[in-house]
Amino acid sequence: MNINVSQILDFVKAEDLKAYEQDLANYQQALQKKTGVGSEFLGWINLPVSVKDEIITTVKDDVRRLAPDIDVFVVIGIGGSYLGARAVNEALKHSFDQLIPEKKPVILYAGNNISEDYLVDLMEVLDQKDYALTVISKSGTTTEPAIAFRLLRDHLEQKYGKTNARKRIIAITDKEKGALRQLTKQEGYSSYVVPDDVGGRYSVLTPVGLLPLAMGGANIEELLKGAADMREHLNMTNTLEDNEAFMYAAARNALYHKKKSTEIMVAFEPQLQYFTEWWKQLYGESEGKEGKGIFPASVSFTTDLHSLGQYIQDGERILFETVVHVDNPKRKMQVPDDGHNLDKLNYLAGKNIHSINHKAETGTILAHVDGGIPVIQLSIPEINEYYLGQLIFFFEYACALSGYLLGVNPFDQPGVEAYKNNMFALLSKPGYEEQTEQIMKKIAEQSK
Ligand code: PA5
Repeated sequence: MNINVSQILDFVKAEDLKAYEQDLANYQQALQKKTGVGSEFLGWINLPVSVKDEIITTVKDDVRRLAPDIDVFVVIGIGGSYLGARAVNEALKHSFDQLIPEKKPVILYAGNNISEDYLVDLMEVLDQKDYALTVISKSGTTTEPAIAFRLLRDHLEQKYGKTNARKRIIAITDKEKGALRQLTKQEGYSSYVVPDDVGGRYSVLTPVGLLPLAMGGANIEELLKGAADMREHLNMTNTLEDNEAFMYAAARNALYHKKKSTEIMVAFEPQLQYFTEWWKQLYGESEGKEGKGIFPASVSFTTDLHSLGQYIQDGERILFETVVHVDNPKRKMQVPDDGHNLDKLNYLAGKNIHSINHKAETGTILAHVDGGIPVIQLSIPEINEYYLGQLIFFFEYACALSGYLLGVNPFDQPGVEAYKNNMFALLSKPGYEEQTEQIMKKIAEQSK
């Protein structure tokens, strides 16, 4: 994996970046020695080398036990309890796997919204399919996955009977706390533990990500190996030139101080769309606090050049971009020659689609820099488990450093509770009586 910041140097000086180096080295020490704020949630830093063989073996056993007999594996979870698995799974899978009978099981997702239509549609599909599910919730109390799990548990029990339904459910949750752990104990579901010291958005290399990924056919050992190699490299280097996470954290903080307050993660490969969703949660939840933080957004190019391209080129100059470049595609295809050339495309005949995409990427970067958008460039040789593992660990490590540079705790998320409290009050959840009364008064006053 490489980083290139040459296209931000019209906006920040090389000395501005260098000025962060010593602080970054200190924060790296704080991560390694667990002396920084939020250090009780630093379990992710050793995951690439600490995931036990026993967990890998159990995950593989679960895949062997369930996969041959199911068409669909449903992953129930929200936020950090599904985005990492979805990011990697979507990046690796065939773009149209749902239409390829031999690509089984297809991974579907639930519990990441409260849409009635979505759930009814899902159950209609599952009526016709053999399936199993995993329900993932660290707290074991999150409303969205809890609702989906109640519905699908019921559906499974009606379809297969209570005893067989149990064998099709795998819970991933806290070792002791939460309603999901209690239910798991009572029903005797197979289960995995989300480690105490790993927060949701840093949990993709625990069973939270590993089980759904292995079920989708990913090589989880390669994913961990990529992450382990990146961990080793980032732990052993402490200059901007050698340490890509230092450079990324320095670049984004320098740009933020030049009033570039929105970062757009750009991918020119549509299969990375969910990877950018995972990145948005990681950075948004880690940094957006105390009135500070870069707003993380994402686009899929060239698609979004035809919708958001105008704004990015010419709108308010608060943006910078981070482009994830992929050197080589997995598949090859060329533009064919056409004797009639009515579409005037023969100038592209014989060219690989990827090389055309690459020219679009280069042209876009040049245009955006000319238009006042600094661009950080990251590149990986290809999309596979190993390089996705590298990228995951790189982004996690850089996020921790970047949050420390910004002066926030990158491992908590106090703001997420605000909507939940209002929703529980509005739904008259037991224990929320006082808040219900207050919120009803507030709504009544606002509607006067
Ligand atoms: O990163 C986080 O901590 C959150 O996004 C959580 O993952 C999300 O809110 C789901 O929480 P839980 O796993 O407790 O259901």
